[in-house]
Amino acid sequence: MSYNILKGKRGIIFGALDENSIAWKTAERVFEEGGTFVLTNAPVAMRMGAIKELAAKTNSEIIPADATSIEDLENLVEKAQEILGGKLDFVLHSIGMSVNVRKGRHYTDLNYSWSEKGWDVSALSFHKTMQVLYKKDAMNEWGSIVALTYMAAQRVFPDYNDMADNKAYLESIARSFGYFFGKDKKVRVNTISQSPTPTTAGQGVKGFDGFISYAEKMSPLGNASALDCANYTVSMFSDLTKLVTMQNLFHDGGFSNVGVSQEVMDYFVEE
Ligand SMILES: NC(=O)c1ccc[n+]([C@@H]2O[C@H](COP(=O)([O-])OP(=O)(O)OC[C@H]3O[C@@H](n4cnc5c(N)ncnc54)[C@H](O)[C@@H]3O)[C@@H](O)[C@H]2O)c1
Repeated sequence: MSYNILKGKRGIIFGALDENSIAWKTAERVFEEGGTFVLTNAPVAMRMGAIKELAAKTNSEIIPADATSIEDLENLVEKAQEILGGKLDFVLHSIGMSVNVRKGRHYTDLNYSWSEKGWDVSALSFHKTMQVLYKKDAMNEWGSIVALTYMAAQRVFPDYNDMADNKAYLESIARSFGYFFGKDKKVRVNTISQSPTPTTAGQGVKGFDGFISYAEKMSPLGNASALDCANYTVSMFSDLTKLVTMQNLFHDGGFSNVGVSQEVMDYFVEE
């Protein structure tokens, strides 16, 4: 269903890799709601080609950018404004990667140069993106910047590894930069803390299937899907949420406030 709530709004969407990506679903929903945007991803992800399909479907252009490179980000922000014909109203940061997770390195035995790489890609890239947007004065007043995060920033999920620390850092950046973006430019900055979702990044986490079924049984409303997340993000880009800023917004079917559910208890009760 479309309400046209993003009519006339322009933005940048990072992180659509394939049709399972949360950013992919968000791009489709933003398009349906009347928004126009530029798609971006790391040059290496571009080679997989699927993003071109999304660009065709949503009448959008693609500008490759490694989100850890200030030069790439500057080029992206300048070109996006040229293509879209003005300043931006929304930005989605949907980027995550841990080399330690990918290579199966245990949290008690981290390779720190891999940790630094993962931190740069998953967390610092959010600061870099906002710093470029801020310095170039590229956001319209009442614009909205959203990054995606996970509850491992607050609670331990052992296999989430150093991504937990990256997410904690990411959420802190949203608050710290949100203060200055709010005061100086009237732009809001938030993180959405999403349920486990079957995507390339999600499935990279060891034991992901157990993880997703457990969350499903613990959440009164069940896990939020990628499409549900896209819908929530659309609302955060709209004018209906203008005064929400510097928040970490749980989008998880209630999981984060449940101690235990009946379904999980039943599992442990002897017949
Ligand atoms: N899938 C889940 O269970 C889940 C849950 C909560 C939060 N999230 C978060 O949602 C976001 C999107 O992930 P997803 O689940 O859609 O997976 P995904 O694998 O589809 O998306 C991750 C994206 O990050 C991009 N990326 C990696 N390195 C980059 C770089 N240097 N520059 C630019 N882009 C780069 C990848 O190309 C990819 O498009 C991530 O921040 C992730 O941590 C995911």
